[in-house]
Amino acid sequence: MSKSILIIGACGQIGTELTLKLREINGTDSVIASDIHEGSDELMKSGPFEFVNAMNFENILSIVQKYSISDVYLMAAMLSATGEKFPDKAWELNMNSLFNVLNLAKAGKIKKVFWPSSIAVFGPTTPKENTPQKTVMEPTTVYGISKQAGERWCEYYFDKYGVDVRSIRYPGIISWKANPGGGTTDYAIEIYHKALLNGNYTSFLNKNSKLPMMYIDDAIEATINIMEAEKEKIKIRSSYNLTGMSFTPEEVSAEIKKTVPNFTISYNPDFRQQIADSWPKSIDDSEAREDWGWNHKIDLEKMSEIMLENLSLKYIV
Ligand code: SER
Repeated sequence: MSKSILIIGACGQIGTELTLKLREINGTDSVIASDIHEGSDELMKSGPFEFVNAMNFENILSIVQKYSISDVYLMAAMLSATGEKFPDKAWELNMNSLFNVLNLAKAGKIKKVFWPSSIAVFGPTTPKENTPQKTVMEPTTVYGISKQAGERWCEYYFDKYGVDVRSIRYPGIISWKANPGGGTTDYAIEIYHKALLNGNYTSFLNKNSKLPMMYIDDAIEATINIMEAEKEKIKIRSSYNLTGMSFTPEEVSAEIKKTVPNFTISYNPDFRQQIADSWPKSIDDSEAREDWGWNHKIDLEKMSEIMLENLSLKYIV
């Protein structure tokens, strides 16, 4: 069974590592990376790359035809913090790109779609602890509104047109290879860089802001697993709750101090505090665990070890 994969938004934080992993599994030439700009050296050297604008249907179609693509991972999006600065653009990018890919699948040009949703679909009226799969959803950010609308459209395209679309509500994703792209959870990445570079960090969220998070390796595994699962196992066609861990800035800084004893943190919350306050503190992802065998591997302690080890190598050379 041969499949050919297109990743749109392959140069972003998640797209970069997703592309590398998919190439490791499926072979270099059957995984096409695409974005509106070039990515890291490691990504660009790892296999085929095409310039693709996620908002241009014809552009995506031509690449799908050129490589006989069967599966598309749509990773291009404007995240929560940047989205608040450019609400129109965020809505346009997040919705048009999704419609382009869903319509390609509806027209039978591709077989399977992965599209990420987010914890941003929840809002201030959602229960904060152990947030259930099905609950009150009144998102207050443009990003969250676009992801919630997107979830409804995914389910609609599955129900009405049989489009095989699969989705996960990503929590904050922590990684060290590619930079994060303008999210509210980005503090949890910056803190590791600043700990090594300066020995101190000023957090834009206050010390008790607890949010659901996940290390990138777990996120990539979940993404590939949901796409590889038998069709019948994917019972939710909007998007699955998913989590690895939950922590606050104070907790991650205590973890960093174990390795960088002189590290200090201060707090200067900005507009992102309000976004964080509107999101869940922890997530109930039992349906993903039951339906397609999701199981996270990395906790705060392990993640901190990996981040500090890899970033120190990066900063020494
Ligand atoms: N990490 C994302 C953000 O902060 C949440 O999906 O916008």
